[in-house]
Amino acid sequence: MKFFIDTADVGEIKKWADSGFLDGVTTNPSLVAKSGRDFLDVIKEICGLIESPVSAEVAALDHATMLKEAMVLKDIAPNVVIKLPTTLDGLKTCRQLTDMGVDTNLTLCFSTNQALLAAKAGATYISPFIGRLDDINLDGMELIRDIRTVYDNYGFDTEILAASIRTPNHVSEAALAGADVATIPASTLAKLANHPLTDKGLDAFVADWKSTGQSIL
Ligand code: E4P
Repeated sequence: MKFFIDTADVGEIKKWADSGFLDGVTTNPSLVAKSGRDFLDVIKEICGLIESPVSAEVAALDHATMLKEAMVLKDIAPNVVIKLPTTLDGLKTCRQLTDMGVDTNLTLCFSTNQALLAAKAGATYISPFIGRLDDINLDGMELIRDIRTVYDNYGFDTEILAASIRTPNHVSEAALAGADVATIPASTLAKLANHPLTDKGLDAFVADWKSTGQSIL
């Protein structure tokens, strides 16, 4: 499973870039607004930091303007992935970008049919939003499982990018459900290696090692 970091905060990306398990970055308009920075500058800077995929989202809702915006974004760097809403206009734009060899990420996916359409439009990634479904008392993970089944039924190679991840459990459950990628906020990434038994075990090992009076170096 690939891990993307879900942020437009360059400082956070720098912090995780050499962790050994970062495979890409996703941004969205809300994250850009939170960063308080110029969108194009941020994407340029992120693409200068990492060579892996960086999702940059169009702002327009209509196909013609989406396509124009996508042309600007794709020219920033070869690793830019064009993020499009999973609407009819977004899907139409996706098809054209796919035919041009441009990678796409179809966002705000909340149903299996939307994911099916994204795959048929040749999307590189489909982003089902787990947390937002859980927020309204639906089952985000069930959507991941259903999309996995449909994509496997037809051999679609669109990658399932589990998004709107809020907890470490979301990450492990998405992995079990067969998601190809998880995009994870830095705060959740930081919790993934935590386990109280690891901490307890280390405390004992440190104390016992100290009692031997030995040194490796
Ligand atoms: C994904 O690409 C989105 O940026 C993100 O995962 C949305 O998460 P949220 O629902 O926590 O805002």
